[in-house]
Amino acid sequence: MSEANEHYGRGKLIVFGEHAVVYGQRAVACSLPEGARASLRRSASPQWSITHPGGTLEIDEYVRRALQAIFDTFDLSSAEHTVDAELTIPVGAGLGSSAALAVAVARAAADIVGIDDDTARGRIDEAVAASEAVFHGTASGIDQTAAMGAGFFAYSKSHGWPEISSLDVPEHRWIIARVAPSASTARMVKSVADLHRRRPEWIDPLFERFDAIARAGCEALEAGRWRDVGTLMNLNHGLLNAIGVSTPALEAACHTARDAGANGAKLTGAGGGGCIIALADDEHGPDVEAALAEEGDVYSFTLPPTD
Ligand code: MEV
Repeated sequence: MSEANEHYGRGKLIVFGEHAVVYGQRAVACSLPEGARASLRRSASPQWSITHPGGTLEIDEYVRRALQAIFDTFDLSSAEHTVDAELTIPVGAGLGSSAALAVAVARAAADIVGIDDDTARGRIDEAVAASEAVFHGTASGIDQTAAMGAGFFAYSKSHGWPEISSLDVPEHRWIIARVAPSASTARMVKSVADLHRRRPEWIDPLFERFDAIARAGCEALEAGRWRDVGTLMNLNHGLLNAIGVSTPALEAACHTARDAGANGAKLTGAGGGGCIIALADDEHGPDVEAALAEEGDVYSFTLPPTD
């Protein structure tokens, strides 16, 4: 694609605090260097085409509703515009592909409508939130923040609005392994909500532990104390397992990574399938990647992104 109004959105890696972030606790994430590109153009015979690393995305009811929410926010007719989009991260793997796509399309929509940058920011946020609600149910907004491109950041919504602080984290290689087909984020968020509704007195203290881990994680990340970061990732993974969002494949992959010498490993995103992330020093990184490659697709990124 090379249209003039081509726009970008980034994928994300949640390092600490997924799920608990929906309940106002702190989480830590980083934008990925990759994500989505999209362009819009007026057309008498509109077509929506979205490619991804595995092929072409089916424009099913959910994708249609998610894109329609963006068109509606910008008062644009979906029947008059062609969408040309490309995802450069795997879809439905917990890496924020839906938010990346929504941000890219919303930016392209703002461009086509020709609204000024200040107004555009608010409208893009609104459009992406409406689009994300289709896939996520009750979304915290963390994916959306990463998709707008914020590097490493701490995120919480404890007072009902997002509090975002950038983190100054030294560059490091992060390993991602996609070890299982993904589950629906909305379904996983709902399963945690059901558990929480049934026994808030059991689950709230766990969410407070998620928060404590994320806070300690911020300090360890900024200081580049990678062994501590790994230990905190392992602890965080244990809590995610405790609230029921891990799976045998995710557990096996975390153990594989740790056995191969990773400092830590955890599932990332909504769970129920999808990806784990692992952190290893230079000496063990290749072993960890090779071991994980036997269980799924492996990607690695140096984070934070430099551009
Ligand atoms: C999904 O990437 C992260 C969750 O915490 C949901 C959300 O924060 O919207 C599971």
